[in-house]
Amino acid sequence: MNEVFTRNLTAWGKQNRRPLPWVGQKDPYRIWLSEVILQQTRVEQGLPYYERFLALFPHVHALAAAPEDQVFKAWEGLGYYSRARNLIKAARVVSKQYGGSFPASYDGLRTLPGVGEYTAAAIASFAFDLPHAVVDGNVQRVLARFFGVRHPVDSTLGRKTFRELADAVLDRRNPAAWNQAMMDFGSQHCKPRQPLCSSCPLADHCVALARDWVGELPAKRPKAARRTRYFHYLVLEHGGNRYVRRRDESDIWAGLYDFPLIEKSQDLEPGELLREPEAKSWLDDGGWELRESSVWYRQALSHQDIRACFIKLSSKSGKLPKDQDWQALAPDKMRKLAFPRVVARYLDEQG
Ligand code: ADE
Repeated sequence: MNEVFTRNLTAWGKQNRRPLPWVGQKDPYRIWLSEVILQQTRVEQGLPYYERFLALFPHVHALAAAPEDQVFKAWEGLGYYSRARNLIKAARVVSKQYGGSFPASYDGLRTLPGVGEYTAAAIASFAFDLPHAVVDGNVQRVLARFFGVRHPVDSTLGRKTFRELADAVLDRRNPAAWNQAMMDFGSQHCKPRQPLCSSCPLADHCVALARDWVGELPAKRPKAARRTRYFHYLVLEHGGNRYVRRRDESDIWAGLYDFPLIEKSQDLEPGELLREPEAKSWLDDGGWELRESSVWYRQALSHQDIRACFIKLSSKSGKLPKDQDWQALAPDKMRKLAFPRVVARYLDEQG
């Protein structure tokens, strides 16, 4: 069965090559950049970011030397900011420790920050033609359906099974074209919803099709309950400036900027919020007055629902506690910084 699979999928790959800028690319820097951007991101959404990153940082030394805030700004809107943080770290390792050349082996690539099994296999195969099979969500879906694997993709056994199957079917003579064909087949043909089974080159031997499992596979473990967090942002205006701070590493959005924040497990009215001890300790001495409060904005993360509301206050003195690391910034300075999506949306609507 493996031979039929490999033969038919190779033929499909030859006829369905997608004109994407990283396809056929051999420069490991460009491949690495595209693969990091495309993790958890659709090709259509990732493409403009890829182009922008290449224009801003044409080689790994440029990225390694860039100010972090500039990289975060270029990443703004893509989410999963640990990818951006690791991008900077890995660029610095390649630039300084390897003189600008990416390690030319799977194990060497795996030592780079943020480069896991998937990214290492992608760079190893696309850039260096090494026989490593990529296993992403598209590949898992194709394998789960064709071979009728019912183990959840996010279980230990599932991960092991899909890795072994991907290695077993890999075309070792042409790993780059093979991996690209597997991913493209998964995203274009064997799609999550409404897969094109009636014109599928693998239909004759597809276990899921024969048993009517297509809609059920790939299986996932039941989802954990989501947490809702209420972010009450204080937009403190003084002399045309607003106070912002850089988020630290202890929570979501590390390295991005936002406003002074009071988090609660429920949504409070502005009046209630300003009676909270935290708000009083920050604001009471400065004569801060409530101006307006926004509607609630929402942002869904993988395991959390964020609700954010923006409470605008102004004061003539602009006085705030000294122990806070907030900085007052003018609008043109703020535009250069990266904010979480909910905050960026609020700022956009403010004009
Ligand atoms: N998604 C992640 N990597 C990809 C690639 N190389 N081609 C198409 N889609 C992808």
